[in-house]
Amino acid sequence: MNDTFLKACRGEKTAYTPVWFMRQAGRYLPEYQKVRGKVTFLELCKNPELCTEVTLQPIDIFDFDAAILFSDILIPMEAMNLRLEFHEGRGPVFPDPVRSRQEVDELIIPDPEETMPFVLETIRLLRNELKVPLIGFSGAPFTLATYLIEGGSSKVFYQTKRMMFEEPALYDALLRKITRCTSLYLQAQARAGAQALQIFDSWAGILAPVDYARFALPYVQSIITDLRKVTDVPIIYFANNGSTLIEHTVTAGADVLGLDWRLNIKEGIARIGEHAVQGNLDPMALFLPKEELEQRIKQLLEDAAGARGHIFNLGHGIQPQTSPDQARIAVEAVHRFSGR
Ligand code: CP3
Repeated sequence: MNDTFLKACRGEKTAYTPVWFMRQAGRYLPEYQKVRGKVTFLELCKNPELCTEVTLQPIDIFDFDAAILFSDILIPMEAMNLRLEFHEGRGPVFPDPVRSRQEVDELIIPDPEETMPFVLETIRLLRNELKVPLIGFSGAPFTLATYLIEGGSSKVFYQTKRMMFEEPALYDALLRKITRCTSLYLQAQARAGAQALQIFDSWAGILAPVDYARFALPYVQSIITDLRKVTDVPIIYFANNGSTLIEHTVTAGADVLGLDWRLNIKEGIARIGEHAVQGNLDPMALFLPKEELEQRIKQLLEDAAGARGHIFNLGHGIQPQTSPDQARIAVEAVHRFSGR
C-alpha cells in the first residue's frame, strides 16, 4: 500500500510529494466517456461496478497517489427526498427548490446505509482493488444549500443570500438538516473504508468573511467535530476561492486545507499555520506548453517546500477539455521534481 498521501495529510515526512487531481475521474478521459456513453450520469453514480471502474481509470492511467470515490456531492441531497436531474450542458437541476418552511420540514435525514448503499458498496469494492488510499467526500452544507435553494447552479446566488438575510431562522433550519445528513453520510463512508474525507465548499468564495463566519463555517465545524468522535481518518477542507477566508477556514478543524490557484501557495502556507496544504495549480495551466507547465510545477513545489505536508493538486477540478497527455506530463513532473 502506497501511503505517501496519508502521511502528507498527517504532516509526516514523505519520500516525495503525493499528487491527485480534483475531478480526476471524468469527461477528459476517453475511457470515462466510453462508460458514460452507455448510461446517464445518475445511473452511473448508482452502479457500484461502474463507479469502481471509473474511479480506477485515472489511477491506472496516470499513477496518482490517491483515488477519489466516483459519485457526486448532490447524491445525498436526492436521498433527503428531493428530485435531482442532470441536464446535458446545464449541470444539476432541482426542479422543486427549497425555499419555504414547509419545504424544509419535508426534507428527511436519510440513513446512508438504507438510501445510498451503492456508495458504500463502491467503497468496499474499491478497497479490495486499490493500492493507493481512497478519498471519500461530501459537499459542505453551505455549498449544498445553494443548489437546493437556487434549484441548480447560480452566478449571483440571489435566493440563497436573500434567505440568509431575510429569513435567518429558516436558513439555519435548512442548514442544520443538511449538516446532519452530511455528518451521517461521511461517518458511513469512513465505516465502509474511506481512508480520508474531503469536504468540498465550492461556493464559499462568494461570501463576505463576516457572512462566511456566520452562515457557512459553523456547519462545517459541526461535521468535523462529529467525525472526530468516531474516526481518525484525515479530513481535507477545500473552500474554493477562499483566500479571503483563511483566517476563518483554519478554525474548521480539518487536517488539510485545500487552496485554489488564486493565492500563491507560499503565502497560503504562511497563513494556515500547522495544517498540511493541498493544491494549487491553475487547472488551465495544463494547457501550457510542456516546458512552461513543468517549470510552473517545479516552482510550485519549491514554494510549498516549507509546508507541514504538501499534497499536490489542481486549484479546482480538471477541465473536461484537458488533454490526458498533459495530465500525464504534470503527474510525472510532480513525481520527478519531488524526488520519486
Ligand atoms: O473524480 C472525481 O473528482 C470524483 C467524482 C466527482 C464528481 N463530482 C463527478 C461528476 C466529485 C468529487 C464531484 C464533486 C462535485 N459535484 C462538486 C464539488 C467540486 C467542484 O467542482 O467544485 C460540485 C459543485 C458538484 C456538482 C456538479 N456535478 C456539477 C455542478 C456538475 C455539472 C458540471 C460538470 O462539471 O459537469 C456535476 C456533474 C458531474 N459530477 C460530472 C462528473 C464526472 C459530469 C457528468 C457527466 O458525465 O456528464
